Amino acid sequence: MTSRLVVLVSGTGTNLQALVDACADPAYGAHVVAVGADRDGIEGLARADRAGIATFVKQVKDFTTREHWDRAMADSVAGFEPDLIVLAGFMKLVSDDFLARFEHRVVNTHPALSPSFPGMNGPADALAYGVKVTGATLFVVDGGVDTGPIVAQVAVPVLDDDRVETLHERIKTAERTMLVETLGRMAREGWELDGRRVRIG
Ligand code: GRF
Repeated sequence: MTSRLVVLVSGTGTNLQALVDACADPAYGAHVVAVGADRDGIEGLARADRAGIATFVKQVKDFTTREHWDRAMADSVAGFEPDLIVLAGFMKLVSDDFLARFEHRVVNTHPALSPSFPGMNGPADALAYGVKVTGATLFVVDGGVDTGPIVAQVAVPVLDDDRVETLHERIKTAERTMLVETLGRMAREGWELDGRRVRIG
């Protein structure tokens, strides 16, 4: 039995693609059963289509309230009976109700070394602060913004001539490797949460 992944995206989906590619090997231990998005016409959805993976789109503007959108998103996710939900460049916060339905099974990847630089602009904030090392963090989503228990981190140097784009691209290269390696281990070995500490295997 391989683990069932539902991946939520909002953009180009290079993290999704890395996962899809890894899942082509049966020994990886997981497969992507569906890709969901909060917007249409994005490369992340096109990547899923090309891979023959089911997709769904729920746009906030199509619902009367944010709560209705959130519930519809959770219903769609639940319909695919995932073992793990991966937020991979998904630019929306999900509610506590959403998280309660999939307790400790929603993970997110963030392009900074938590607890530094949470939020939408991790690479830009790291650059502006002047840190010499930043990176990416995979964490179990909780009710805060990029505050959940950390599953894995990877460090990435900041170069003197970096711009936000070059730094974010370098982070994303390391982030994809970390995501693929860590999710594979979670799928094959299981994991447990002890307070804020996550142990795989
Ligand atoms: C990643 O760096 C992710 O951490 C951030 O947005 C980027 C998404 O990239 N939230 P992609 O859509 O997977 O290419």
